[in-house]
Amino acid sequence: MKGLILSGGKGTRLRPLTYTRAKQLIPIANKPNLYYVVEDLVRAGVTDIGVIISPDTGDEVKAALGDGGRFGARFSFILQPQPLGLAHAVKVAREYLGDDPFVMYLGDNLLSGGIAHLVAEYRRTMPHALVLLTPVDDPRQFGVAVLDGAGRVVRLVEKPAVPPSELALVGVYLFSPAVHDVIAGLRPGRRGEYEITDAIQGLIDRGGRVTAHQVRGWWKDTGKPEDLLEANRLVLSQLTRRLEGEVTASEVAGEVVLEAGATVSRSVIRGPVHVARGAVVEESYLGPYTAVGPGARVIRSEVEYSIVLGEAELCDLPYRLDASVIGQGVAVRGQANGPRRHTLQLVLGDRSVVRL
Ligand code: DAU
Repeated sequence: MKGLILSGGKGTRLRPLTYTRAKQLIPIANKPNLYYVVEDLVRAGVTDIGVIISPDTGDEVKAALGDGGRFGARFSFILQPQPLGLAHAVKVAREYLGDDPFVMYLGDNLLSGGIAHLVAEYRRTMPHALVLLTPVDDPRQFGVAVLDGAGRVVRLVEKPAVPPSELALVGVYLFSPAVHDVIAGLRPGRRGEYEITDAIQGLIDRGGRVTAHQVRGWWKDTGKPEDLLEANRLVLSQLTRRLEGEVTASEVAGEVVLEAGATVSRSVIRGPVHVARGAVVEESYLGPYTAVGPGARVIRSEVEYSIVLGEAELCDLPYRLDASVIGQGVAVRGQANGPRRHTLQLVLGDRSVVRL
């Protein structure tokens, strides 16, 4: 079985962060989303992996992934000239996929329960497609599936105004090569995209067997800043305390990872918190569900439930930063002293400068 990771697209809902980087590379607990996806595939025994890239962010994705050696995988990068939809990405990968069954994994999805059991189930039952579902509060934002009494998928609709069920399609799909025939005859849907939901519907309409599994544990599509923060929280809540950096005159409580080369002085950290190598935390407070990237500096500031990317600098902030995403190399500087009575929420693209 081959893997197909979708790491193209535009990432418009994550602007300004995606003006300068691929959304799939935004770090969750200091690791790019894409790495979790690759590791999940490799754990399921899928090591021959095609990676769909776009002309805008393809080089960055290639550089971040390498040839696959360090993951125990082999990558083939496949350029999708335009983001014309998930089914279009499969079409572009047609030659690479050959006649093998494959698992398609959206590069901005994150699953706690992994996919090994799905791959095993697919191999055992060999359906035309196997999809992953989960009930959601607002199905209008997703592909939605309808099941029959036996649990087979009978209908799929992409982002319906009036959802026929509460079961959303999660971004992991297992396909037999039969899907290529359907995709070859597909027309763009309402959104102007070649929809994978239409391709699966095509399989069903031709009498194909499409089965479904419900997600184990949690699932996150990191498409919007609030989803990134929530994914960060979920991953950090599985953290185990490991202090390899230097701590002086500080209180470090709970599940905190301090990578080698990070320094914390005269500060309070309440986990779960992840502080990457080379980061500096001085006279500051880091509250639960915060990730501080490599080489970032937090000086006389308070930060909680936030993602701070590498080389960013938060200095003398007069407010407590909460639910914020601070891009690479951003500088936010204020003139603060004493306790912060108010909070501030910021989503700042790479290299922004803010003075408070
Ligand atoms: O996350 C689950 C949802 O993913 C499903 O419920 C929907 O049925 C499915 O269409 C998809 O919806 P999104 O609106 O979230 O898809 P998005 O445009 O964000 O693309 C998902 C990933 O695929 C993302 O990492 C970018 C990549 N992509 C997307 C398109 C449209 C490509 O590589 N090429 C493309 O042409």
